[in-house]
Amino acid sequence: MAALDGKVALVTGGASGIGLRAAQIFAEAGASVVLADRNADGVAEAAREIGPGAAAVGGDVTNEDDAAAMVNACVQHFGRLDIAFNNAGIGGFAPIQDYDLDAFRRVLDVCLTGVFLCIKHEAKQLIAQGGGGSLINTASLNAMQATEGLSAYCSAKAGVAMLTKVAALELGRHDIRVNAIGPGLISTPLTQGLRDVPGLEEAFVNEAPIGRIGEPEDIAQLALYLASDASSLMTGQTLFIDGGANINRYPPLFEFFGVGQ
Ligand code: NAI
Repeated sequence: MAALDGKVALVTGGASGIGLRAAQIFAEAGASVVLADRNADGVAEAAREIGPGAAAVGGDVTNEDDAAAMVNACVQHFGRLDIAFNNAGIGGFAPIQDYDLDAFRRVLDVCLTGVFLCIKHEAKQLIAQGGGGSLINTASLNAMQATEGLSAYCSAKAGVAMLTKVAALELGRHDIRVNAIGPGLISTPLTQGLRDVPGLEEAFVNEAPIGRIGEPEDIAQLALYLASDASSLMTGQTLFIDGGANINRYPPLFEFFGVGQ
């Protein structure tokens, strides 16, 4: 029997990178999967490739009706919800003194409020149907490690780590576990701009005891563990998966981008 046989999973940010790989791995492990993303064409295509055990829904996690519709899609297509990977996110870089307010708010909105809205509607469904569940949120190495230029992102991701604890505290009585993942630098479209800066990827790797950046596969395998009953005693945790980079410091981005001095 595969680890997620008979389970129904929702994955936000399922059109690309970490979410896409996690949706594929959840499906390989026996789950029916709903991929949600503001890139509606992207998730439709990804779901088609996975096969009949997958469905897609377009939507923006910062819109409450859309977040509710993502959960409803799981019920409509597969009858229930057991697992959710609240993973959609965006980046943003600027020195604090130049940070545009709307840009700052958008990062908080997608990375933190979007996770809250998804947890809210997932919890409603899980409590109503009974039998518990597993919610997994994507935080970041930057939930614990300050990085120049990432004031909004670091604050949002630290918020996700704390939101994960509060949700775990509140929802444990319903047998719902809530954990978060803190990836380091992962090879996805989100980090293409960073990785294109000469020397930056090397600087990151030099600070990490395991000398490589991550692949979506690394993170998706941890998501699978947290989704499955193998982690049934774990809740409220943020697990960092970054080659050990959190032990050291993040590369000085102002130096690399020539700003903020
Ligand atoms: P990605 O850019 O490849 O994928 C993110 C997906 O989220 C995209 O398909 C995008 O359309 C979707 N999305 C963005 N905003 C959305 C919204 N408002 N509503 C619905 N969907 C939305 O990025 P990646 O790297 O796979 O990122 C996934 C998560 O991992 C994010 O939360 C990111 O902050 C986090 N993360 C990534 C790291 C990395 O190095 N790639 C490191 C640490 C955390």
